[in-house]
Amino acid sequence: MKHPHYRSAVVTGASSGIGRAIARKLAGDGLHVYALGRDLSALDALARETGATPVALDLRNLTPLRELFDKVGIDVVVNNAGLLPGISSFASTSPDDIDSMIDVNLRAPLHLTQLALHSMVARKRGHVFFVGSSAGRFPHPNTAVYGATKAAISLFCDSLRCDLLGSNVRVTEIAPGRVQTNLYRTALGEQAAKEKLYEAYRSIQPEHIAELIATALALPEYVDVSRLEVFPTDQAPGGSQIVSMK
Ligand SMILES: NC(=O)c1ccc[n+]([C@@H]2O[C@H](COP(=O)([O-])OP(=O)(O)OC[C@H]3O[C@@H](n4cnc5c(N)ncnc54)[C@H](OP(=O)(O)O)[C@@H]3O)[C@@H](O)[C@H]2O)c1
Repeated sequence: MKHPHYRSAVVTGASSGIGRAIARKLAGDGLHVYALGRDLSALDALARETGATPVALDLRNLTPLRELFDKVGIDVVVNNAGLLPGISSFASTSPDDIDSMIDVNLRAPLHLTQLALHSMVARKRGHVFFVGSSAGRFPHPNTAVYGATKAAISLFCDSLRCDLLGSNVRVTEIAPGRVQTNLYRTALGEQAAKEKLYEAYRSIQPEHIAELIATALALPEYVDVSRLEVFPTDQAPGGSQIVSMK
């Protein structure tokens, strides 16, 4: 099957969770997918299943990315990889964790997008997705750096759309609430994440996010879904918490 507009896609964080579901969906919809991540065995398994090309790299090192974009003209980029190493007040967040969140959640998507845009703008064809988070739209306690990286991505998307006017390149931010993945495995531990976050209510599954991306992608090129917020029906954003100082 041929996609109506595009032929090739790069998906970051394709080794697990939301990224893996997106890579599967886009490959199923006829795109040639370059599946990025560090876990080569997970990427190889995805490749066997979908025909995607596995590209094992650490997004903190941008050199292999440059080599990839020099070789291939990519139509679709899904900036999905991200991490949340811990749930802790900002004062007790380690400097290494601050840096790794900024590097993977913010710095890498900006550079990767710039690399992709050279050819997209020249060919007047492309769609760049960013998987942000409700944490970048509403304040949450104990995830200040994570929220800051996602908020930066959100405004970046709006500004990028201004810069790209007239280029025919679309930009979409998806800001999900809780999705059932391994994101919280380091922050909470696998078992606690399961019990606290997912078994208590009905979670969004990664395939639902993949479905939204595929829908935005298949719309006519003159329609740009600029932002999508999506929550489990059982989760509301915001809310207030009052702490007594007595
Ligand atoms: N789950 C949620 O509730 C939720 C809600 C809102 C937004 N999000 C966002 O959704 C995105 C995907 O997360 P997920 O929930 O699917 O979690 P996940 O299952 O933990 O997936 C994270 C992905 O990021 C990749 N990654 C992390 N560090 C990397 C690095 N240094 N270099 C290359 N790849 C790296 C991982 O690949 P390797 O381990 O193979 O490197 C993995 O494929 C993230 O941006 C996250 O912030 C998630």
